[in-house]
Amino acid sequence: MSDTSPALRAVVALGVTAVLTAGLFLWDPVELSLWFKALHVVAVIAWMAGMLYLPRLFVYHAVAEKGSVQSETFKVMERRLLRAIMNPSMIVSWAVGLWLAWSGDFFSDGWLHGKLALVLLLSAMHGWMARQVRYFADDRNEHPQRHFRIVNEIPTVLMIGIVILVIVKPF
Ligand code: HEM
Repeated sequence: MSDTSPALRAVVALGVTAVLTAGLFLWDPVELSLWFKALHVVAVIAWMAGMLYLPRLFVYHAVAEKGSVQSETFKVMERRLLRAIMNPSMIVSWAVGLWLAWSGDFFSDGWLHGKLALVLLLSAMHGWMARQVRYFADDRNEHPQRHFRIVNEIPTVLMIGIVILVIVKPF
């Protein structure tokens, strides 16, 4: 129960925002893009929560003895975080983000090019983390704890750059 509740909360949050978005479209199409922006931010928060927490789990998992109860528990936590929260929220972030770019006619803006470059790096990191989840699941991790401590900082740096580009729009 305690393992599934964060996943449920994320799915419910995305679902509620999507339903409100659809409802408002029927009621007042002018506000549609603001509701999609709200959905985008909710999805991005869920995605980032996983991108910041998963490498932290790797830090602890890397020193847990293979086959121990602790190690098996980390495997379940990592798999659920990736599949139930990070994968769906990344897809929603991309789909709604691209829709916002199209509806706001932002595709020729420099800030969006910069943001897309950083989000592509973030997505590549997501793919790398998904691979680490598989390696840990097969007890094949070979990276030391220190490696994950350093990697842990990359999503934070990318997130700061992405938020500055989309809010300040410096170019
Ligand atoms: C996945 C690909 C993404 C695309 C294509 C995308 C695109 C966009 C677009 C076009 C907007 C509307 C900007 C405006 O109306 O001024 C927006 C808003 C926003 N995005 Fe993204 N985005 C993506 C991912 C992200 C990520 C990963 C973050 C944070 C780490 C993020 C944070 C935000 C925020 C905070 C806003 C609201 C900005 C405001 O209203 O001033 N986005 N996004």
